[in-house]
Amino acid sequence: MEVVTAKSAGFCFGVKRAVDTVYEEVEKGGPIFTYGPVIHNETVIGDLEAKGVRIIHSPKDLEGITEGTVILRSHGVSRKEEEEIRATGLKVVDTTCPFVKRIHRTVAEESAKGRQIVIIGAADHPEVEGIRGWSETPAVVIGTPEEAEAFECEEGKEICIVSQTTFNATKFEKLVAILKQKSYTIICVNTICNATHERQTEAQEIASRADIMIVIGGRTSSNSAKLYEICRERCPKTYFIQTWEDLDAELDGNEKLIGITAGASTPKRIIEEVQSKCLKKLLNKC
Ligand code: F3S
Repeated sequence: MEVVTAKSAGFCFGVKRAVDTVYEEVEKGGPIFTYGPVIHNETVIGDLEAKGVRIIHSPKDLEGITEGTVILRSHGVSRKEEEEIRATGLKVVDTTCPFVKRIHRTVAEESAKGRQIVIIGAADHPEVEGIRGWSETPAVVIGTPEEAEAFECEEGKEICIVSQTTFNATKFEKLVAILKQKSYTIICVNTICNATHERQTEAQEIASRADIMIVIGGRTSSNSAKLYEICRERCPKTYFIQTWEDLDAELDGNEKLIGITAGASTPKRIIEEVQSKCLKKLLNKC
């Protein structure tokens, strides 16, 4: 049996930068707060909590706090939230990924020019909520073909489309194609991050050859859930796990290739553990 682990599995540049920053700030000492969980991985969050890092969910949670550092998460916050946090006078460390920051800037500039902002993504995802909060006028979020079909815009108004960085590239193209059929003037900025695209393409390629595919990611990680969706279409025996203990695969003894990939919020240590322990577990079942 051969095991292939995707080269693009695990932390992307933005997540690594954010997690490293939190650990660096912990080393410096003082109360540390992260605005929302710094990444969607329960193991990492648990470790940070054990080191005293507290998660806050609203600038109101900082009321009465006079010292400490607030770390803004990698997938960004809205302009209003950032301003409210800075107004507390506490030290603020912004780990918003530069690729997400670029979307904030585009949305702020294009909405200021009078364009209708359309965000292709999941409306309830914190990154999308953050992006929405940089538009000067109400932005529209589209995540399904039905929503794209139903979209209507004021006559004569130009549209600027951006996307959530972790959105599925194929779905993005489909939704944009629906919007383009309507006779609006559209500026489309594909802001899907390359890390996501590479991860999805590689996962797709491995899953189409694999007999068993393992996707490692946190339960609340949307990019891991999307990876699972992509792999499942090519490999029916795809398993979504958080740690190696979750793996409950059914083997028939004919499996030759096991593929492994992981979402952007999965630490290297967990991938290596899955690699060694899962393989042992699977081999024992043969
Ligand atoms: Fe940044 Fe892309 Fe990661 S936007 S946080 S490098 S998935």
